[in-house]
Amino acid sequence: MTIEENVYESDALVSQYCNFQYGEEHFGVPNFAIRCAEFALEYAKKTPMKSALDLGCATGRASFELARGFESVTGIDFSARFVQVGLDLKNEGEIRYQRVVEGEIVHQETRTIDELGYSDIADNVEFWQGDACNLRAHFSGYDLIMATNLIDRLYEPLLFLEEVHLRLNKGGYLILTSPYTWLEEYTKKELWLGGYYDEAGHVVDSLDGLKKVLLPHFELVATHDVPFVIPETARKFQHTISQMSVWKKK
Ligand SMILES: C[S@@+](CC[C@H](N)C(=O)[O-])C[C@H]1O[C@@H](n2cnc3c(N)ncnc32)[C@H](O)[C@@H]1O
Repeated sequence: MTIEENVYESDALVSQYCNFQYGEEHFGVPNFAIRCAEFALEYAKKTPMKSALDLGCATGRASFELARGFESVTGIDFSARFVQVGLDLKNEGEIRYQRVVEGEIVHQETRTIDELGYSDIADNVEFWQGDACNLRAHFSGYDLIMATNLIDRLYEPLLFLEEVHLRLNKGGYLILTSPYTWLEEYTKKELWLGGYYDEAGHVVDSLDGLKKVLLPHFELVATHDVPFVIPETARKFQHTISQMSVWKKK
């Protein structure tokens, strides 16, 4: 590896997420991190907008976007390598990553904090490595908790969902998105919230699974379909439709 290649984040998954979160839009589908943050900021207008938590923040784009409206934002992800991207943008003022064009051909990309418009708000964003299913107690007192495309990647989603209300202020919002792509590789089947038939052969869908665990503490305010496109190469893309569910703490 040459020195020049070395300064770029070369891990394939981190680069793919950088490109997804900080790269160009495709097929007219808005940037997912920005779109989700816009929804969240709109709902959060009804709160004091002091602090927000972006759980499973990956490379941090939505955390920065939330800081356009919140006084302080915490981004947490299980992956230290993902979180490092947000930290680099905040502390170094730029990120570099490789966008796959085709085969072994890659394009070096750079995004700066100035061009993204985060220079004045970056100090209000912090990033931590952490586990949504086993979060330290001091991560609490939020007006908004957003977890986009996280729940179907958790090893035990109920550990997160059963106690998330304790981390929110009264009247605060929990915003979840998920395409409900349950896979045993991430979540043992007996721990899926939905996406299966019960013993009587009835469909158990994931929104019903969410209602079962969240309605004791939350009102379900709305659902929205939010599409996203993850580029794999210059000519191959994953197009997915996530379901956003908006929950207000009683
Ligand atoms: C499908 S990605 C979604 C990333 C981002 N929120 C988005 O919408 O683009 C799932 C993210 O959840 C993170 N993750 C998986 N398990 C986690 C856990 N137990 N605690 C916190 N983050 C977790 C992964 O590292 C990954 O960044």
